[in-house]
Amino acid sequence: MTPNILEVQNLHFHYPDGSKALQGINMLINENSKVALLGPNGAGKSTLFLHLNALLKPCAGKIRYKGADFEYHKAFLKSLKKRVGIVFQNPDHQIFSASVKQDISFGLFNLGYSATEAGARVEEVGEKLNICELFDKPTHFLSVGQKKMVALAGVVVMQPEILICDEPNAGLDPGNYKILMNSLDTLYREGCTVIISTHDVDFAYSWADTIFILDQGRILKQGTFDQVFKDRRILEQAKLKPPWVFETWEKMIDNGMVSNILPAPRSQEQLYNMMSDRRIMKRTTPKIIEYQNV
Ligand SMILES: Nc1ncnc2c1ncn2[C@@H]1O[C@H](COP(=O)(O)OP(=O)(O)OP(=O)(O)O)[C@@H](O)[C@H]1O
Ligand SMILES: [Mg+2]
Repeated sequence: MTPNILEVQNLHFHYPDGSKALQGINMLINENSKVALLGPNGAGKSTLFLHLNALLKPCAGKIRYKGADFEYHKAFLKSLKKRVGIVFQNPDHQIFSASVKQDISFGLFNLGYSATEAGARVEEVGEKLNICELFDKPTHFLSVGQKKMVALAGVVVMQPEILICDEPNAGLDPGNYKILMNSLDTLYREGCTVIISTHDVDFAYSWADTIFILDQGRILKQGTFDQVFKDRRILEQAKLKPPWVFETWEKMIDNGMVSNILPAPRSQEQLYNMMSDRRIMKRTTPKIIEYQNV
């Protein structure tokens, strides 16, 4: 059995006006992994995502789901859409029902769920995402951040095997950011493969198992958090900043404060814990103690 839930082979796509959005993308996505796509505006992230859910058909190349080639007829697409859910970058492209509750349950009714079953699933997702208080609100009155949470709920409620989120954290306040991140982690723990695009390098660094950097429709680099972010040349090419935790860690190594054989911290909390651990810190801790004793 292949561990790759999705395989993308030499994918090319241009829009009708001739814009070359994808120029030979190759990707392997492991089942039950956390994947982040980074890249500047116009790199092709959204276009690639629309292919992974078969909303766009490639001009050349192919995509496989669990080893089976994507086909573009009605039966295949229907079954694919049950398994691969996508949350669009712009929630206005996703939300179209009059009320929030209707919108979240729309897909379930389409699949033939009874009102009772659909109602229970919607309540559960509403609680998970903390949006139950919005249920009876007309969707056109929602704020942008609220719309993003509702759009996410409409996909999560379908319990997809693969969840694709196009810039899920953009425009969210810290509270909703945390809820969203916890939800992505819960889905992952439940076996879902979660693929996101983001401009938030700090988030990608601490969250993703695999990171892809895209630019001009091509993959510049792929790998684990440390493989990708230590390649400063590629980061510059893709106009990305290094994550601050990783950059601080590298500076500490350069200054001889910590050994370069230790694994890099993945979060602010891990970095601060390491900084206060005297077994890890080489020079600074004794110095601080000396100063305190003066
Ligand atoms: N409908 C369209 N018609 C013509 N060109 C398009 C269309 N949609 C996207 N493009 C072009 O395709 C390229 C890739 O766009 P895409 O939206 O996939 O980038 P992105 O990486 O998602 O960018 P962003 O970070 O701004 O969301 C860009 O050059 C863009 O101008
Ligand atoms: Mg985009």
